[in-house]
Amino acid sequence: MFQQLKGLDPDPILGLMAKFRADPHPQKVDLGVGVYRDPSGNTPVLECVTRAEQTILAGQTTKTYIGPAGRAEFNDAVTQLVLGPGHPAVRDRRTVTVQTPGGCGALRVGAELIRAAAAGVRVHVSDPTWSNHVPLLGSSGLRLERYPYYEPASHRLRFAEMLAQLEHASAGDVVLLHACCHNPTGADLDPQQWETLIGLVQRRNLVPFLDLAYQGLSEGLGADAAAVRRIGAAVPEMLLAVSFSKNLGLYRERTGALICIAETAGRADAIRSQVLQIGRSMYSMPPDHGAAIAARIFADPALTSSWHRELEQMRARIDGMRVLLAGQLKTARAEGDFDFLSRQHGMFSLLGVSGQQVALLRERHHVYMTSDSRMNMAGISPENVGYVADAIAAVLRC
Ligand code: LMR
Repeated sequence: MFQQLKGLDPDPILGLMAKFRADPHPQKVDLGVGVYRDPSGNTPVLECVTRAEQTILAGQTTKTYIGPAGRAEFNDAVTQLVLGPGHPAVRDRRTVTVQTPGGCGALRVGAELIRAAAAGVRVHVSDPTWSNHVPLLGSSGLRLERYPYYEPASHRLRFAEMLAQLEHASAGDVVLLHACCHNPTGADLDPQQWETLIGLVQRRNLVPFLDLAYQGLSEGLGADAAAVRRIGAAVPEMLLAVSFSKNLGLYRERTGALICIAETAGRADAIRSQVLQIGRSMYSMPPDHGAAIAARIFADPALTSSWHRELEQMRARIDGMRVLLAGQLKTARAEGDFDFLSRQHGMFSLLGVSGQQVALLRERHHVYMTSDSRMNMAGISPENVGYVADAIAAVLRC
């Protein structure tokens, strides 16, 4: 049976993680996988998470099934957190929220839902986009197309080209958008650009699919959901994948949600039944632990404030490292202008160098980033920034 089966290359991000772990060099620096790191390079368990977890473990009396939609209180709180109070789609009972195994689960269930509803539509994804978007959406059999988004060499958004391409999308096509902290570029649309895009989405009858994996890591929880809220109020139908891997640090607990907005409450009921069936046929039910923690934090004002404080510290540290690296690259006389690092948001930015230069950084200097030169800015620290800047400067001279 397995004689014909070919081995596959490792995943570009997870494969790099393994390479980094295997590297014995004492000064190695991991700017690869997108996880938050504190100044000592550790990915901490948030204090609010530890406190919520302790209460849950002390009071837990059963491990019985939770059901295919996950925790109702988690789903309600996530809908509020993302869409905000008094959102028209919530008021009109046009939303469906189900807990999923991480944001990846939400993207995949969303893709299956699209295929069940309209198998022939195309899904337009940004060029570049997160490397796992293509397998997650493409595995469901949907046709994917790329729209221009960002030019790594000049560090500039290709907004006019993006609009021009989406003008030719067919009515009913889906457009995948990064709600904030674009992965891998760190370059987001400004409010005016979002408005222009919303006008196009409405005029061309496109269905937005928002990926919200970094809420709170750009400007704040409310500000980072502003585009999502605005689009959700402007269009009849929308999908939204939410992840709590980064903003609650629940990476391995696989905690996410899929929110769908339907044209009517009746259609929302139909969507709910489909989504539950899709989840049942893929993984039966989502894992509980992360959602139980998140729900506890959202429901307890003291834990919520602690979360907001910790999230703000993570955001500020990443922004600080952006400024620090840009400055240190100047000191190291690295060829080029790196001020774009301080203007971008979230964990990632593209350095804008070739695959060969990325390989040199890894092989000669033990600085790890993905082959498209994506750097996780949370991997920078006051201790390693000089080493990283010198390594980049040296490679740019090659
Ligand atoms: C990343 O982009 O590095 C993270 O979202 C981790 C992953 O699963 O790829």
